[in-house]
Amino acid sequence: MEALVCMKLGDPTVPMTSDSSPIAAVTKFHPVPAISSSTSVRVRIRATSLNFANYLQILGRYQEKPPLPFIPGSDYSGVVESVGSGVSRFKVGDKVCSFAALGSFAEFIVVDEKDLFLVPEGCDLIAAAALPVAFGTSHVALVHRAQLKPGQVLLVLGAAGGVGISAVQIGKVCGAIVIAVARGDEKVQFLKSLGVDYAVDLGKGNIIESVKNFLKSRNLKGVDVLYDPVGGKLTKECMKLLNWGANILIIGFASGEVPVIPANIALVKNWTVHGLYWGSYKLHQPHILRNSLEELLSWLSKGLLTVHISHSYSLSQADLAFAAIKDRKAIGKVMIALGGSTAGRSKL
Ligand SMILES: NC(=O)c1ccc[n+]([C@@H]2O[C@H](COP(=O)([O-])OP(=O)(O)OC[C@H]3O[C@@H](n4cnc5c(N)ncnc54)[C@H](OP(=O)(O)O)[C@@H]3O)[C@@H](O)[C@H]2O)c1
Repeated sequence: MEALVCMKLGDPTVPMTSDSSPIAAVTKFHPVPAISSSTSVRVRIRATSLNFANYLQILGRYQEKPPLPFIPGSDYSGVVESVGSGVSRFKVGDKVCSFAALGSFAEFIVVDEKDLFLVPEGCDLIAAAALPVAFGTSHVALVHRAQLKPGQVLLVLGAAGGVGISAVQIGKVCGAIVIAVARGDEKVQFLKSLGVDYAVDLGKGNIIESVKNFLKSRNLKGVDVLYDPVGGKLTKECMKLLNWGANILIIGFASGEVPVIPANIALVKNWTVHGLYWGSYKLHQPHILRNSLEELLSWLSKGLLTVHISHSYSLSQADLAFAAIKDRKAIGKVMIALGGSTAGRSKL
């Protein structure tokens, strides 16, 4: 089957034609995974999304380090191709989506039926492939952990990235006042088009003063929930904007720098700091993940959420897909489409 294999750790943006590329697209020789139990389902993958974590994992800088070689990839959508004898919830031809620790950058994946989700009628199958990790993370963070309420002020960093855009949209669905931070005019204009209450360009002036002026103009004291997939100096600066009793959601460190949150200030201001590792809910509280993804699929089918696809590639162009993430070019999700090549910047 067609698959992308990580042979060694390294930079996946190095051209795949070069010997130093850590990844290779294989076409014929990779075996199709077998149905491994009576409740297993084999899915023919139609699309899979790239997440920052996939990039970090190939670099060898992610917390989960699988043995080499491995097929990377986490969230995906596709069509049920075959089912084990005890499968009761799915049949051949059903449209499904899910996520795995590894293995979605391939034509087929085998999964237990309990880990699979039916894509509702009216839901775009490609969009469903981008939903689990990015929207799932933001939904668990904002709805389950921070319990975001209508009228609260939500500040989203890295707001035009994969998890950022999902946090912006979920924030709006929850009725929050959403402030979005991103770099560059194209990203800021895009965020405005999503209906954010205020969008700040990281590359222009003092963002703290800019947000303070906005808050003042709306008679708002400060930020109630900080959603932070970026880290570094930006997190430290944003502490100046937080209200008494604020929730800080630590999502990731796209800047490469782990921020320091002073415990003495957290104490005085009664802040709650949430470390959030979405994937670990599958082990510790799987019902939260399941309920969350089912709610997201229903929101997607009702048109409350839109998955913005920034770039789409085939498996043999995976180096370009990783470069779109590394070079901060993506506005929304970068996708890999299977069963027919799709190149470049696309709406799919
Ligand atoms: N905790 C969890 O369970 C979980 C789940 C999913 C993702 N994450 C983490 O969340 C972070 C973002 O993931 P993502 O998939 O949304 O990535 P993404 O689509 O690449 O977005 C990351 C955003 O971060 C900003 N950024 C700031 N400094 C950057 C740098 N040095 N390099 C690249 N981007 C930089 C960029 O925005 P500007 O260019 O506009 O500044 C970019 O849009 C990653 O650290 C990822 O591991 C965590």
